[in-house]
Amino acid sequence: MINKIHDAINQYIETLEDSTLKDGISYALLAGGKRIRPLLMLQVIEHYGFDSNHYVDVAIALELLHTYSLVHDDLPSMDNDTLRRGKPTLHIAFDEATAILVGDALLTDSFNLIASSKKLSSDQKIKMIDILSKKTGSKGMVFGQILDIESEKQTIDINHLELMYFHKTANLIQASFMMGAIASNAFNDIDDWANIGRSLGFYFQVQDDILEYTSTPETLGKSKSDDVREKPTYVSLKGLDQSLQFLTFLNHSILEYQKKLQITDGPLLLTLEEIKKRKA
Ligand code: IPE
Ligand code: IPE
Ligand code: MG
Ligand code: MG
Repeated sequence: MINKIHDAINQYIETLEDSTLKDGISYALLAGGKRIRPLLMLQVIEHYGFDSNHYVDVAIALELLHTYSLVHDDLPSMDNDTLRRGKPTLHIAFDEATAILVGDALLTDSFNLIASSKKLSSDQKIKMIDILSKKTGSKGMVFGQILDIESEKQTIDINHLELMYFHKTANLIQASFMMGAIASNAFNDIDDWANIGRSLGFYFQVQDDILEYTSTPETLGKSKSDDVREKPTYVSLKGLDQSLQFLTFLNHSILEYQKKLQITDGPLLLTLEEIKKRKA
């Protein structure tokens, strides 16, 4: 499945005009990355017994949008990071203007990939564009990013931190599950997919805090800037032990939704388990 995602990403890159923009997009997309968002969408489709091959070109919209968020997140005016996916960040390898424009292009092109699908109905496309734009725009991920930037050097409480994590990280993971449900016409289950996405998204971000605290940039493939920038994180607010306990709590909720959605075996279950065990 990961290979099919890579093939589709390469096919998208081949459609671009030779330019610095193409080089930058290629650098950002091909640097690596776990590809969990397109993977989750495609495995939801398989969970409903459909052939996910028809939707790979749509699923990579999630990877383009996620990659845009990382390229902009690393900019000097944001987290000012120098290492991403094991390589120098885009503004270091190229320059800031290219990093901004690569992000802009990836964001915009992600919606075009959905609109261009040969398999989705017009209604499915509109529903996907609606979900993805809501979950990542001014009421979603970007809102989370401004809460994150404004939290630097501030004392915030756990409710504010959860609001920030829900928006900056969980929303795109929710959209990944929900887009899989839309492709499968599983509209009755959409709320359950949103709920599992919410719990998994929280889990993912708290786990990221723990990894940043316990691991090295070499293992993570990205810089560790939370401390330098004095960003409040789950670990800085609650300590390592309580952060680990919170993961156990969130896992109960993930398992509850797994049961409700009848995820009892198969590739989706394996992916969920791998995400929960991740070390990078
Ligand atoms: C990193 O996401 C940003 C967070 C939401 C914590 P990933 O851990 O999925 O990054 P890649 O795509 O594998 O590089
Ligand atoms: C990344 O958050 C979330 C988005 C890019 C939306 P972080 O800034 O906490 O993640 P890393 O540590 O840079 O991957
Ligand atoms: Mg950030
Ligand atoms: Mg960052």
